[in-house]
Amino acid sequence: MSESIETVKETGMENIYECIYVDGTVRLCTKNLAKGFTVYGERTVNYNGVEYREWNAFRSKLAGAILKGLKENPVKKGSKVLYLGAASGTTPSHISDIVEDEGKVYGVEFSPRVVRELILVAQHRHNLFPILADARFPQSYSSLVEDAEVLYVDIAQPDQTDIAIYNARYFLKEGGHLLLAIKARSIDVTKDPTEVFKTEAEKLKNEGFDVQQVINLNPYDKDHAMVLARFK
Ligand SMILES: C[S@@+](CC[C@H](N)C(=O)[O-])C[C@H]1O[C@@H](n2cnc3c(N)ncnc32)[C@H](O)[C@@H]1O
Repeated sequence: MSESIETVKETGMENIYECIYVDGTVRLCTKNLAKGFTVYGERTVNYNGVEYREWNAFRSKLAGAILKGLKENPVKKGSKVLYLGAASGTTPSHISDIVEDEGKVYGVEFSPRVVRELILVAQHRHNLFPILADARFPQSYSSLVEDAEVLYVDIAQPDQTDIAIYNARYFLKEGGHLLLAIKARSIDVTKDPTEVFKTEAEKLKNEGFDVQQVINLNPYDKDHAMVLARFK
């Protein structure tokens, strides 16, 4: 679809771009580290000899958070990222684009069927390392993972915040950042989601995190929030 592209612009965030089409449509995109390969049926665009992949905010909570006002993306070129709940690689693949070959993305996923799909994605991305494990047991993958600048957690479990804190203590560098996707309905279906987000953010504060932003992901993900917190 390269013929319909008007321009590609930098955003204020490293390695994240806006693809602007001739009809005025604007989409987030990343430079494709695995040229010629797509991951989830996303559209690609060739502009000035570079292949970009559209980043769908309805499929990726990090893209949704960016469009909903994330002030700073801690994921940068060269970052080491521990990603819990990597699934079949939709968001991990864009993070892999952003960190480039200098960075690493350790993708923990406990469903063997899903990890098989993640392995196919990783075949074309030398900075993406799939790990079949339960994020509740970080000791089971501690020998495979280096300390990380960013811990990304998207596991939709009732104890997701506790799991995030536990993994941070194992792997997150001092001053590193946590991006925690909170699914309110996995925690308490009876409570107002905003209340759930507050309670989970409070838990992080009590455990030594500086909570920098809580972003409601509506309309991209209903009853979800993305928390950005710094590990002190
Ligand atoms: C919402 S999906 C993740 C989507 C993915 N983060 C993305 O944006 O492309 C949640 C994933 O977390 C995985 N998961 C849930 N609990 C887990 C756990 N305790 N350990 C590892 N993976 C887990 C599920 O199997 C599922 O694939």
